[in-house]
Amino acid sequence: MKKRISVSLLLGAVLFLLFPELGRAADRGELGSVIRTIPPNGPFWKYGIVTMRRRAAKAGMAPVVFAHWSHRSRYTCRVCHLDLGFSMHAGDTGITRAQYTAGKYCGACHDGVTAFGVQGGECDQCHMKDTRALEAYFDTFAATLPMASFGNGIDWAKAYSSGRITPKNALASTAPPLQLPEKLRQPMRLGTAAPRSEVTFSHKDHFSELDCSSCHPDIFNIKKRGTVDFSMDKNIFGNYCGACHMQVAFPMNDCKRCHPHMSGFSGF
Ligand code: HEC
Ligand code: HEC
Ligand code: HEC
Ligand code: HEC
Ligand code: HEC
Ligand code: HEC
Repeated sequence: MKKRISVSLLLGAVLFLLFPELGRAADRGELGSVIRTIPPNGPFWKYGIVTMRRRAAKAGMAPVVFAHWSHRSRYTCRVCHLDLGFSMHAGDTGITRAQYTAGKYCGACHDGVTAFGVQGGECDQCHMKDTRALEAYFDTFAATLPMASFGNGIDWAKAYSSGRITPKNALASTAPPLQLPEKLRQPMRLGTAAPRSEVTFSHKDHFSELDCSSCHPDIFNIKKRGTVDFSMDKNIFGNYCGACHMQVAFPMNDCKRCHPHMSGFSGF
């Protein structure tokens, strides 16, 4: 046993002396494979759009186009995904007209007071034959917000922390936001197999807009510590961080925002 350890140590030392670049080369290979799997960003206005067409099409109505960018500037994720019960999987909520005219889902706000209603002549404000008006609105909407390279081209974290957007944290009450428990205030380091791809995750970055239940236990089961098979591939296919960071929050293309030590490469 003792002998085997010393042999492998020796082998390691010899390999290191012969190929000092080995660690880095492996890193670059991994980088390459990650980059190949990441889908291109697409137009800024379209990022975070959910198009709902199944029920609408059956009823002969144009599809409903829901923009996260405009709604998240007014409300935190928590309002819709916790209080109002919208699923974070497109198509899962199964919204019907009967529900929203009774004040559920979209109807909780689109009641003719908080936002335009669902009963009168406003049908085509949601059931859109084309998206030209929405695209034009995006340009004016985004013009004054801090820029980012990917996603909506908007740095949402900065927009929030600088007070450019002040999304409401609850529909009805003005109750003060919950406090993040002390022991979760420190950022966590999620180590990776590749030396330069260490990830910083901070509860603080997330808790201002999201609720614990947005991530626990469905996306991150703390008891099982799912991060054992935490790879970029899985993220890119919409698991773990990718559940939000491929759909609504800045996408995986923006490497440096999660891998601050990944030098010389900032995304594509
Ligand atoms: C005004 C309500 C509202 C707000 C605010 C909101 N969402 Fe959503 N979100 C929705 C609706 C509606 C859907 C689609 C649900 C469905 O199709 O069943 C959705 C879907 C999603 C999806 C799945 C998208 C897809 O294409 O698969 C993710 C991820 C998501 N939201 C994350 C967020 C995050 C993160 C925030 C906060 C930054 C947020 N949402 C804020 C209403 C909202
Ligand atoms: C938490 C409140 C809230 C919910 C839930 C909500 N909206 Fe809105 N929505 C608003 C407000 C506020 C506006 C802007 C006010 C106005 O235009 O009357 C708005 C505006 C819109 C617009 C106009 C374009 C834009 O993006 O500003 C569309 C389209 C729209 N909502 C669709 C939907 C659909 C579809 C749903 C459900 C899937 C939904 N909304 C759920 C509050 C909400
Ligand atoms: C605030 C946004 C909004 C407005 C305004 C709105 N709808 Fe809808 N409507 C939706 C959503 C969301 C769905 C679900 C779409 C889907 O899943 O295909 C829907 C679905 C429907 C359906 C099929 C649903 C079912 O239960 O079978 C009909 C019919 C419909 N809408 C009619 C109308 C009419 C008529 C108006 C105008 C009087 C209108 N809608 C206004 C958001 C809206
Ligand atoms: C955006 C997603 C997200 C949100 C929101 C979130 N967490 Fe976490 N949490 C994580 C991730 C990622 C980890 C690390 C998981 C791992 O290593 O398997 C984690 C780890 C933890 C741990 C284990 C910490 C440790 O040091 O072992 C606790 C406890 C925890 N979260 C509690 C909470 C509570 C309470 C809230 C709400 C106040 C919350 N989380 C909100 C993503 C989130
Ligand atoms: C439930 C949704 C969700 C999940 C899951 C999630 N995030 Fe986020 N994250 C957000 C939102 C929303 C923001 C605000 C910024 C934005 O929308 O672009 C954010 C912000 C961040 C920021 C701050 C960026 C800045 O510039 O300040 C980092 C870093 C980050 N996330 C990393 C991660 C990592 C790493 C994971 C997985 C361990 C993860 N997130 C999982 C929704 C999520
Ligand atoms: C939203 C956060 C986030 C972004 C953005 C991101 N990553 Fe990652 N990355 C992760 C997480 C989480 C892991 C796994 C951490 C662990 O294993 O504990 C990871 C792991 C990796 C690894 C280690 C090998 C593997 O597949 O697990 C490489 C290489 C990597 N990322 C490259 C990239 C590149 C290149 C980009 C930009 C194109 C990028 N990442 C963008 C969160 C992110």
